[in-house]
Amino acid sequence: MLKIENLHAAYGGIKALRGVSIEVNEGEIVAVLGSNGAGKSTLLKTISGVMKQTQGSVQFDGEEMPRVPYQVVGKGIVHVPEGRQIFSNLTVYENLLVGSFLRKDKDQIEKDLIEVYELFPRLLERKDQYGGHLSGGEQQMLAVGRGLMANPKLMILDEPSLGLAPLIVNQIFEIVKEINRRGVAILIVEQNAMKALKICDRAYLMSTGVIEKSGKPEDLRDDPELMKAYLG
Ligand SMILES: Nc1ncnc2c1ncn2[C@@H]1O[C@H](COP(=O)(O)OP(=O)(O)OP(=O)(O)O)[C@@H](O)[C@H]1O
Ligand SMILES: [Mg+2]
Repeated sequence: MLKIENLHAAYGGIKALRGVSIEVNEGEIVAVLGSNGAGKSTLLKTISGVMKQTQGSVQFDGEEMPRVPYQVVGKGIVHVPEGRQIFSNLTVYENLLVGSFLRKDKDQIEKDLIEVYELFPRLLERKDQYGGHLSGGEQQMLAVGRGLMANPKLMILDEPSLGLAPLIVNQIFEIVKEINRRGVAILIVEQNAMKALKICDRAYLMSTGVIEKSGKPEDLRDDPELMKAYLG
């Protein structure tokens, strides 16, 4: 479904990705794990067309992706960014509608809104509140819900667990699994390796802009050196 080959990306002279190749197949949850500054966010920003200084190939359903964010969304890839980036001066409902702005199937949007409220009852309760008045966990739910409103085939999530209490983290990971069960492929980047390994089908380990290892979660967990390097 998503096939990335020999991807390079830089910020001026700083090379953040140096020849990254990864794949996500239909129906999968794939995790990219790595510590601070490994290049995880840069990888997602390159996929979604935000990074300008790039080389290499990002194919989705056999087609090279444009480097234009809204066009990438139009192709079915939605990015739930690091730090949520919801609109604090829009209501929950308005934030959700923003997610659907490119869609032409207007009658389906209302149904998807109901589905998002079913997944996140909390968002329904708070639908008329400003985004900026939500807790961190609620803002993360809103960011994921807003992504769903684009009706994606692939959702890419940047550290959805960051800064959240353990109970909320578990809820978020459960929701990610549920979204996947409903037919959306998932690419998730995380520092919380243990949690991500519990829900993913495959994982890649990344450090300083390169993929060092990949495999099934059980194999990665069973490697003591990897445990030490990535899982603490
Ligand atoms: N806007 C920027 N300008 C310059 N350098 C940047 C910028 N954003 C990231 N970098 C650098 O690129 C490299 C990769 O950063 P990136 O944000 O992709 O890492 P990350 O794996 O997402 O880290 P974290 O877990 O802290 O979010 C780092 O060396 C970082 O300092
Ligand atoms: Mg990051």
